[in-house]
Order: sequence, then C-alpha cells, then structure tokens
Amino acid sequence: MSTFSERDFDAERYDRSRPCYPNEYYAVLNEYHQGVRHCVVDVGCGPGTATFQMAALLNGFEQFVGTDISQTMIERARAASGRDERVSFQVSSAYDFSFLGDAKANRQTLDMVTAVECVHWLDFATFQSSVAANLRTGGTFAIWGYADAAFIDYPELDAVLDDVSYANDQLGPFWQQPGRNALRGMLENWVFDTRYFTDEQSAKVRVADLRTPQGLHAQQRALIISKEMTVSDYANYVKTFSAYHTWKTKHGDSEQDIADRLVETICRVQPELTPDSKVKVAWNTFYKLARRI
Ligand SMILES: C[S@@+](CC[C@H](N)C(=O)[O-])C[C@H]1O[C@@H](n2cnc3c(N)ncnc32)[C@H](O)[C@@H]1O
Repeated sequence: MSTFSERDFDAERYDRSRPCYPNEYYAVLNEYHQGVRHCVVDVGCGPGTATFQMAALLNGFEQFVGTDISQTMIERARAASGRDERVSFQVSSAYDFSFLGDAKANRQTLDMVTAVECVHWLDFATFQSSVAANLRTGGTFAIWGYADAAFIDYPELDAVLDDVSYANDQLGPFWQQPGRNALRGMLENWVFDTRYFTDEQSAKVRVADLRTPQGLHAQQRALIISKEMTVSDYANYVKTFSAYHTWKTKHGDSEQDIADRLVETICRVQPELTPDSKVKVAWNTFYKLARRI
C-alpha cells in the first residue's frame, strides 16, 4: 500500500482526524501478555497512534519502536515524539526487522509485535513468518483495526455513509484491493499460522451491536471505538482515506470535493444536522491476539 507513502499524503490530518484506541483495550493487552517486557515493535505505526498509547498504557515495557514504510508518516511520528526516550520510529517494511541490528534481527528477541489498522495491506503469510522470526517464545502478536464508521444515533444515515465509501460513482473504485475488502470483513477468515502461534483471543464489534449495548459480551466491550465529532470533522476523517487521496489525485479541483459533498448530503437527508452539529460516531472493530509458540 503506497498511498500513505506519497509525499503529499496529509499525515498531519491523518493524525488529527483518525480515532485512537480505548484504555480498556490496552488493559486487555496488558493482561494477555505473559513474561518479560523489554521491547514492543508497532508495525505500520503511521503517525504513532498506537505506539504512543502503548508507551503510556502498557506496564513495564522498556522500549517501543514504531515502524512504517511511509517516510511521511514516520516524520509525523517523530515530530510528535516528546522526551520519552523509550519511544523511537524507523522507516521499514513490515516484513523487515533489520533495523533491530544483526545481533537481534530474526533472532526471536521481541516481546510483543503489534500491527494496528494495517495488516489488511500486507501479505499475511509472509508477515506472520517475519513476526515469528522476531518474537520470542511466549511473546504477544496483536493485531487490531476498525472500519466503516456510522453515526450511532442516526441509523437512517448508514446508507449515505456506506455509499461514500463503496458506491461505484464515489470512493468504491479507489480502494486498493483485496486489502479494503478484507478490512471491511474485519479479517473474518484470517487465521493465525498454527506452526507459529497459539492461544488466540479475538473479538469483533459491529456498530449495530452498540445500538443494543446489552448484546455485547465483555471481550467485545474492550475495543469499542467511538468519538464525538462534528459533521465537518467527519468529512475530515473521510479525507484521511487512502481511497480519498487517490480520488483527489484523479479529480483534483475539477469537481466538488467528495467529502464536502457528503456533508451536504448528510444535512439534506437529516435536516436537524448542520456541519457544526456534534454526532457520536462509532466504528466496526476487531482484534486478534496470539502467543508465539
Ligand atoms: C491506516 S494506517 C494505520 C496507522 C496506525 N497504525 C493507526 O493505528 O492509525 C496504515 C499504515 O500502514 C502502513 N503500511 C502499509 N503497507 C506497509 C508495509 N508493507 N510495510 C510497513 N508499513 C506499511 C502505511 O504506510 C500506513 O501508515
């Protein structure tokens, strides 16, 4: 997936407009992890969304390394780095751990590897064998992500939001496939390679489940991603999609911006909303945890 690596990809807007992950989820990750807590590598870290959160919320780890193939994303992550010397960032492919140095790379030295909102862009078999070569026995492999936000209190807008992402005359043709479809399906059929990994723990949440919260079990409640934002903020979130970036590259300013048009459609279909109205937005989510054998 190269869109996020393009020099004109707006990593700053990505950082501002994308959701982060709830503390409850990091509590699950903390509890799942067994044994030594030296180093976590967060692959496909983008602007460091989960890397920074892990540094704040995972107990006892000494080092957090975010890696991403996009120089633009890593520059953004580095710019956001504070004085926490435990956190660092590297430009690297997800399959390549040579940044660890000869003494550590491919020698099963890591305690945790995470891949957040990015594994759908990867060849999962190749990625799993790279992770297996670097994760110590008993170490944690954690993947999670989200897609397809909806306005919780406005189910009548579900079709409008779905259309902007997937209709053929909107962003539908601009996604890289099969990655997007895999994410849309919450990596439903993606299984850990049992030669390398065991003790799978996983959960999924659909926005529809949140409209009837009594239907959620405890494991699902860990990764509820929801956020209050204005309708205009939502358009800014749409502008962080790789498909939007590709749409914009193709259309330029030759027609009305597709995300701005979405705001108009939302306010027409639901007249009580204005661009400044605050709405509660939630995402379909999944997580999958496993332990290195
Ligand atoms: C949707 S962003 C997710 C960023 C961050 N993990 C988060 O939770 O918001 C996906 C990231 O995966 C990165 N990526 C895609 N393919 C990659 C690859 N083959 N190797 C490393 N990073 C990759 C992209 O550059 C992008 O920053």
